[in-house]
Amino acid sequence: MNILVCGGAGFIGSAFIRNYLKNNPGDKLTNLDSLTIGSNIENLKDVEKNPKYNFIKDDIRNSETISKLAQENDILVNFAAETHVDRSISNPKPFIETNVLGTYSLLEAARKSDKLFIHVSTDEIYGDAENQDSFTEENNLKPSNPYSATKASADLLVNAYHRTYGIKCITTRCTNNFGPYQFPEKLIPKTIIRASKNLKVPLYDGGYQIRSWIYVLDHVEAIESLMRKGKSGETYNITAWNEITNRSMVEKVLKLMNKPLDLIENVGDRPGHDKRYSIDSSKIQKTTGWKPKYEFDQALQETVSWYQRNPTWWEPLTNEKTLHPQPWTVNW
Ligand SMILES: NC(=O)c1ccc[n+]([C@@H]2O[C@H](COP(=O)([O-])OP(=O)(O)OC[C@H]3O[C@@H](n4cnc5c(N)ncnc54)[C@H](O)[C@@H]3O)[C@@H](O)[C@H]2O)c1
Repeated sequence: MNILVCGGAGFIGSAFIRNYLKNNPGDKLTNLDSLTIGSNIENLKDVEKNPKYNFIKDDIRNSETISKLAQENDILVNFAAETHVDRSISNPKPFIETNVLGTYSLLEAARKSDKLFIHVSTDEIYGDAENQDSFTEENNLKPSNPYSATKASADLLVNAYHRTYGIKCITTRCTNNFGPYQFPEKLIPKTIIRASKNLKVPLYDGGYQIRSWIYVLDHVEAIESLMRKGKSGETYNITAWNEITNRSMVEKVLKLMNKPLDLIENVGDRPGHDKRYSIDSSKIQKTTGWKPKYEFDQALQETVSWYQRNPTWWEPLTNEKTLHPQPWTVNW
């Protein structure tokens, strides 16, 4: 089988590629990525010499390239997106361009080639789950910030293309991922990097927001299971049921690093901040049999240790902007 992966030089896309090539040595995989912020081609060092792997530097909005690649491949999997909520608040435009228009370009290619399109979305499209049961795939979309609004827009376009044109597609909505190779601006790597430099670790509004965490390899294996056994036109939530406050998460990381908890600094809140994300993933479990297999505390410990062992990976990606205590105030 030939697979086109878009956005494979980022955190989750690169984990998908490393894992997919290991599990499916007979398949050929092409990775298209424009290498914007969040990406790092070093994430793919392990596979760059694999004859079954091929990299193309391009933009998902380049419809000519995408259409040609769609003809040559059997499945299109899209991880390419602008992904940092804070940056979407200070400048929403690139989010609309990549997350909405980029998805449109891929949908057109899937429509013309009649290939299966896997749309990687997020639990954030449901909006705030404070005082509510966990959202199922049947709940309405109620995004709160420009990032989640552009992801929700893409989800709606995917559904419309299935209904109107009958394209083959599957949408996945996963919770917060953690693991090696995550860009330093995100909560866990930023905590590890700032703490390792004995800098204060910023937390919005006391860090009482609840997020549900999944180890990145569980996420990519869930996607692989859907490529094989998912039903076209359907949406699947993906969670590992690890709901904790951001404060508890940061405290866990600091304890693993033997750093004092008084490094934590309250920096006020971010506009439009959701208090809780929570989803139910019974549907994927029933459909494909997938369930998370990595134990949360052990995976977190291994993640912290990976960043501690690999400063040569994160140092070149780290600057005042990526480590800023209130990135939504920064002019990106
Ligand atoms: N990180 C999470 O916790 C999480 C949770 C659920 C869903 N998701 C979704 O998973 C996907 C991947 O997230 P991630 O954390 O790996 O993001 P990331 O920011 O690490 O990677 C995104 C990749 O997309 C590429 N890209 C951006 N714009 C592009 C364009 N126009 N054309 C081609 N490539 C482009 C970037 O260069 C980068 O390599 C996103 O769609 C995100 O919404 C992420």
